[in-house]
Amino acid sequence: MALPAPDPSATCLITGASAGIGTELARQLAARGHGLTLVARRRERLDALGEELRARHGIGVEVHDCDLADDAARARLIEALRAGERRIDVLCNNAGYGSFGRFHELPAESEIAMVRVNVVALHELTAAFLPDMVRRGSGAVLNVGSLAGFQPQPHNATYAATKGFVNSFSEAVASELAGTGVSMTVLCPGPVATEFSQVAGVGDLEGRLPGFMAQSAAEVARAGIEGMVAGRRMVFPGLAQNAVAQAGRLVPRSLLLPAWTRIAERTLDR
Ligand SMILES: NC(=O)c1ccc[n+]([C@@H]2O[C@H](COP(=O)([O-])OP(=O)(O)OC[C@H]3O[C@@H](n4cnc5c(N)ncnc54)[C@H](OP(=O)(O)O)[C@@H]3O)[C@@H](O)[C@H]2O)c1
Repeated sequence: MALPAPDPSATCLITGASAGIGTELARQLAARGHGLTLVARRRERLDALGEELRARHGIGVEVHDCDLADDAARARLIEALRAGERRIDVLCNNAGYGSFGRFHELPAESEIAMVRVNVVALHELTAAFLPDMVRRGSGAVLNVGSLAGFQPQPHNATYAATKGFVNSFSEAVASELAGTGVSMTVLCPGPVATEFSQVAGVGDLEGRLPGFMAQSAAEVARAGIEGMVAGRRMVFPGLAQNAVAQAGRLVPRSLLLPAWTRIAERTLDR
């Protein structure tokens, strides 16, 4: 089993735990008896979740509010986590957001910050905690990638590129970890009913997509945790998601890019 057993002297670090998939990862890991370290910007939500999970499961929960787009705040967070009483046995790099529109028309600051949250924070936290896991011969990392990472996506260019990084980095490191007792799993959801599309400024995007693709945060989190338990390299939370990923890998770009542009423009009414 790649997911370490619950241990009062250890904790599962979850970024983006204040909403959506991150909150569900926290609930489900807590139900398995794991202590938690929750990170996001909205402190009040993390405090409320921490209180609920301590009371329900008798686990230890630590909370850190941090803007992962802020270089200095990330450095302070890593320092505080390293100085913490409990070792990080499980790292869930989940925080992230997207945007929709033509890159040259989107606010540059938010696009650049997206790279810091979706890519740099995941990379830095992995660099900070993976070496100790390997030294101990035990640990699990779950990176939340996306189906968006399997092909370039016009009108969603930065987001798809960040998830391309997550998917590729995770598969490569997972292979390097063979035989170490530590696993890295990349979870690749399609559309999930969370605050994601609201944050991206496109309202109820899931509602405008084929129903068979839409999943709940709870089922996606469950697939990710089961993937960690099994020590899997890549997890699709359903068969349809797996099929879409394979299509993204195989369809020639000369066909995919114009088709994707048309679909995006129709879906987004642009
Ligand atoms: N929903 C989908 O359709 C979908 C599909 C594929 C992959 N994903 C991926 O799944 C992951 C979770 O997304 P979700 O769907 O659960 O979206 P969500 O409901 O919007 O949750 C996003 C989480 O990320 C945190 N976050 C965003 N910016 C942050 C920042 N600057 N600093 C710290 N935390 C930040 C948010 O916390 P605060 O706002 O409190 O900081 C929140 O907890 C993301 O990596 C996303 O790319 C989502």
